[in-house]
Amino acid sequence: MSDAFIGSREEYTLSGIDETSLDLNPISQLRAWLDDAETAGAMEPNAMCLATTDRRGAPSGRIVLLRSLDNRGLVFFTNYLSRKGRDLEESGLAAACFWWGRLQRQVRVEGRVERVAPEESDAYFASRPLESRYASAASPQSARIATREQLEAAVEHLRRQHPEGPPRPSDWGGYRLMPEVFEFWQGRPARLHDRFEYRLESGAWVIRRLAP
Ligand SMILES: Cc1cc2nc3c(=O)[nH]c(=O)nc-3n(C[C@H](O)[C@H](O)[C@H](O)COP(=O)(O)O)c2cc1C
Repeated sequence: MSDAFIGSREEYTLSGIDETSLDLNPISQLRAWLDDAETAGAMEPNAMCLATTDRRGAPSGRIVLLRSLDNRGLVFFTNYLSRKGRDLEESGLAAACFWWGRLQRQVRVEGRVERVAPEESDAYFASRPLESRYASAASPQSARIATREQLEAAVEHLRRQHPEGPPRPSDWGGYRLMPEVFEFWQGRPARLHDRFEYRLESGAWVIRRLAP
């Protein structure tokens, strides 16, 4: 690493993409790249940086895990009263970004968000390990807390109250990001990367190449 600038300079030589290699449906294309990332041994291939904005328009980002994907959109789970939850309730908009270094690929997604049906959140919550259920039920995500002990005591309290596992808190559940724009990016040599944008126009996905 040099003193002046951070990091190395990777040359991206793995592969390229063009109109003929891309699926016409961006959801299918994303699924294929998620599968590739898993096969390539990526850690948490379904991790994505979720960007939201507050009422001033100030952006913030954090990693969440993509938990389901179909033609309606991308579903992730979180606390509805968290910072991101408040942003999403306010703006109804979000962007997400995946980066799979091993494959030299990035995917960007933008669109509107809505809460998933309560039954869908119930089903996912019930599928989580017991410890995760206690943690998400006990943690007032994004709130300031004085000590770690306070958090651990809240978990202990819940454990005693619900030894069989806590019910899903009403302020914890899923959001669906309903995409209007996707971008698939494949690193290429000499910084001449391939980029393809999918934009939903009158109900159909239109694909265009973008300059890197
Ligand atoms: C790999 C990874 C996966 C994560 N997955 C989730 C997730 O699925 N849901 C979630 O609410 N937070 C998840 N987090 C924690 C968030 O990044 C973040 O700290 C938390 O949601 C609070 O964000 P907020 O205060 O902006 O709302 C994850 C963090 C990491 C590093």
